[in-house]
Amino acid sequence: MCGIVGAIGANDFTPFLLAGLKTLEYRGYDSAGLAVLDASGALCRVRAKGRVSELQARVAQLGISGAVGIAHTRWATHGIPAEHNAHPHVSGGLAVVHNGIIENYEALRGQLQALGYVFSSDTDTETIAHLLRACLCEDATALGFAGPAPDLFTAVRRAVLFLQGAYALAVMREEEPDCLVVAREGSPLMLGLGERGHFAASDASALVSVTRRMIYLENGDVARLRGTGVELVDRQGQAVVREVVQSTLSADAVELGDYRHFMQKEIFEQPQALGNTLEMIGGAARLQPGIFGVEASEIFAQVEAVLILACGTSSYAGQVARYWIEAVAGLPCTVEIASEYRYRHSVPNPQQLVVVISQSGETADTLAALHHAKAQGHAYTLSICNVPESAMVRATRLRFITRAGPEIGVASTKAFTAQLAALFLLTLSLAKVQGRLSLETEQTFLAELRHLPVAVENVLALEPQIKRWSQRFASKQHALFLGRGHHYPIALEGALKLKEISYIHAEGYPAGELKHGPLALVDAQMPVIVVAPNDALLDKLKANMQEVHARGGELYVFADGGTGVVQSDGVNVLRLPEHYGLLSPVLHVVALQLLAYHVALVKGTDVDKPRNLAKSVTVE
Ligand code: F6R
Repeated sequence: MCGIVGAIGANDFTPFLLAGLKTLEYRGYDSAGLAVLDASGALCRVRAKGRVSELQARVAQLGISGAVGIAHTRWATHGIPAEHNAHPHVSGGLAVVHNGIIENYEALRGQLQALGYVFSSDTDTETIAHLLRACLCEDATALGFAGPAPDLFTAVRRAVLFLQGAYALAVMREEEPDCLVVAREGSPLMLGLGERGHFAASDASALVSVTRRMIYLENGDVARLRGTGVELVDRQGQAVVREVVQSTLSADAVELGDYRHFMQKEIFEQPQALGNTLEMIGGAARLQPGIFGVEASEIFAQVEAVLILACGTSSYAGQVARYWIEAVAGLPCTVEIASEYRYRHSVPNPQQLVVVISQSGETADTLAALHHAKAQGHAYTLSICNVPESAMVRATRLRFITRAGPEIGVASTKAFTAQLAALFLLTLSLAKVQGRLSLETEQTFLAELRHLPVAVENVLALEPQIKRWSQRFASKQHALFLGRGHHYPIALEGALKLKEISYIHAEGYPAGELKHGPLALVDAQMPVIVVAPNDALLDKLKANMQEVHARGGELYVFADGGTGVVQSDGVNVLRLPEHYGLLSPVLHVVALQLLAYHVALVKGTDVDKPRNLAKSVTVE
């Protein structure tokens, strides 16, 4: 959510800053801006409402260049998307870009206004700009310091003492053209160590074009970057050396290639993403619970229940897993929306395994829910995450890294199916350690997992038929998605995908719940999408479909072979290639992703950057 790039060295880094913003645009795209020190040493700032391309055009028009610079792409929190609210924010000769939220900004703003600082935006970030300026001048005494900070590095270290909330900051100053200062608390930020200079970004993907050598900042860290080196201090102000990590992120992974949209690319990458995620089971005859961490077997043997915490699509992965964990591992499992759990008075059970699921590993609510669970005495924690260096992964005792590769489309697709694969492995591991998995069942499930990429490939081949269906949705205002059992969360996910990228209002329901209210919505204008696997609940589901049909609703049924659901007037049937038992949700969701994608194409929405949304929700 929001993207930061910074660079310092001997070259003109304006093209790098703009390219970095393009890469990070999926994290926020309502306005963008950059500031550089030009050849004369003057601070030049350019901002534009809208996409990075608007900013690019303005920079080209103005012919701006500079070897020191910071840039930002914004997802509005405080203040509408508008040029005056776009970053960088300036005060005197300094400029700041910021990700996150400063919770006490109103109090700080009042304090700074009383000192005479004039605000020109509605943002929390501008407070930081003025606060830094105050730290650098005589006003420092009014803030409780003996005198002005001698340099920007010291000023940032002082200013962060006032900030409550989450932030990643990059700051530059006309009077100190040889440095950039960055700080991190809560929001991700990393440094890139290059041949031609030093860099900072909120996401490694913005840096791989210039370097693979990276330092992931810890919370509380403040760093000063010069063309020749970096120095770092921790929260206590002690100089620290952080590990330099060699990023393995491939530049292709964040390129569109021949695809029209990242979402399309990511839907079609699912066989590979699943194959990579399942690589650790390889050809092994037995499952090793150690894939979740060295302590996994010991912890899994102790746990009496599972508590899953997540948001959005990741929480639907958790909901599918609830059915699996209770049915296969015999352990009670609850799934809670992280933003509810963190503020709820719940009854902790220290024998519960707390599982956080997150593509990004940075989602503020999930991270806070994890900390809340730990503070309540939960010691058994596991993260299932797609970003190995993320805050969430670092905060749990056990971890499983899905290997879906970078997900750029705002609507999650390949990360979701990779999470399902990981959660199925968790289910089997728990069942095994708890003595509830026979050798035969283990081997059957492992074989099904290994075949999963091929099974998904077969679903992807249905695209032409799904595309034909999508034409019929273009004029619709609403849609209902129905499923039962472990396909009910898939109905929820199908509805979420459709609403977020096509803006058609869609709701997912357990099919049995229809007659308890939502059936009142059904008429000829209401498409009802049904997830129909060939499982034990099929007859019940068919009865629910009859309830819709009898009321003139148009049914779109994704049916497994052998279900006996046939095409007729008002009943459209798309046959899935194979029934896949407990793992069937993985196949059905792929079909629903394709439906949402093609409906969005027909509607002409911005598929990868749907309105009002952004990837990685790092604010509450
Ligand atoms: C929907 C979607 C979101 C995310 C949610 C959690 O397509 O992507 O609902 O699933 O914001 O994000 P992560 O998984 O990064 O914690």
